[in-house]
Amino acid sequence: MSHGVEFCGLSLAHPVINGSGTFDAIAARRAFGPALERDFPFAAYVSKTITLAARAGNPAPRLWEAPGGLINSIGLPNNGLDGYIAEDLAQLAELPVPLITNVMGSTAEEFSALVGACDQRPEIAAIELNVSCPNVKTGLDIGADPQQLAQVVGACRASTRKPLIVKLTPNAANVPACAAAAQDGGADAVSLINTLRAMALSPQEGGERRPWLGGGTGGLSGPAIRAVALAQVAAVAARVSIPVVGMGGVQRSSHARDLIDAGATLVAVGTETFRDPATGARVAAGLRALRRTGEGFPTA
Ligand SMILES: Cc1cc2nc3c(=O)[nH]c(=O)nc-3n(C[C@H](O)[C@H](O)[C@H](O)COP(=O)(O)O)c2cc1C
Repeated sequence: MSHGVEFCGLSLAHPVINGSGTFDAIAARRAFGPALERDFPFAAYVSKTITLAARAGNPAPRLWEAPGGLINSIGLPNNGLDGYIAEDLAQLAELPVPLITNVMGSTAEEFSALVGACDQRPEIAAIELNVSCPNVKTGLDIGADPQQLAQVVGACRASTRKPLIVKLTPNAANVPACAAAAQDGGADAVSLINTLRAMALSPQEGGERRPWLGGGTGGLSGPAIRAVALAQVAAVAARVSIPVVGMGGVQRSSHARDLIDAGATLVAVGTETFRDPATGARVAAGLRALRRTGEGFPTA
C-alpha cells in the first residue's frame, strides 16, 4: 500500500514534516553530509520563520526546560528576506523534498510583500504564514482575531498562487473561528499548534524573582502540549474543509496517528527532533507499519 500523501497539490512520500524552527537543515547537512539527503527525515521541509528585515532574536537565556517540555523565547532570529534568498535558498533547494517557506509580518502589507517575494522563487513549493505575532498598530495578535486574520490571508492570497498554509496560534479565544477565517481568506491549509504562551521565574531563593527568559515570556512545546494539540486539531478539522497539519508533542507514531485520526492530513514533529534528529523518519516508518498491519499501535 502506498504511503504517499497528496497535500495542496504536492505529492509527498509520507505524512510527516518538521515544525518550523525546530530542524536546521543547513546545519544538519554540514553535520551529516550526504547521509542527510539519502535519509531525509521529513516529506517536506519547513523553513524557520523569515521576516522582511533581519532580526537578532531575544536576549539570553532563551530556553527553560519545563516538565515534559520546553519553553523557548528564541525570538525568531533570521537574516531577513534578502538574506534568506541570497544565502539559504540555494542550499534548501538541494534538499530531496519540497520546500515550504514560513514567513511572518506585523501588518497585512508586510505579509503580502513576503509572500509576493516567495511567489517569484521556483525553489519554494508552498508558503506558511506564522500569524502568532502582534499587529504593530493594534498590539493584538493577528492570528487571534478572526477579522484581522481573514484580511491578512486575503492580502497574501492576492500575492501568490502557491499553496498557502496558515499556522494558527493556540493562544486565541476561539481557534476554530480563526481557522474558518483563514479558510475564508483563501488559505489552502491550516497548521497547528504553535507554542503556548508560558513563563518561568528565575530559580534563585529569596530576593526579587524575575522572569528567567530574556524575552520575559516564551512558548511551551513538547509532550506537555500534546493533549491540547489533539483537542485543537480535532476542533479545527471539524470546522474547516481544507487540510490540517497537526503538531504538538509528537514523539512516536502513536501520537501522530492520534492527530491523523483527529482529522490531520499531515503531522509535524518539532521539539522531539532536538533529542533525536531522526524522529521524523522513525514516526513515518511507524505509521507505514501501522498501515500495513491495519491495526495495533507501533511503539516506534
Ligand atoms: C526552539 C523552537 C523554535 C521554534 N521556531 C518557530 C518558528 O520559527 N516559526 C514557527 O512558526 N514556529 C516555531 N516553533 C513552533 C514549532 O514549529 C511547533 O509549532 C511547536 O513547537 C509545537 O510542536 P512540538 O511540540 O512538536 O515542538 C518553534 C518551536 C521551538 C521549540
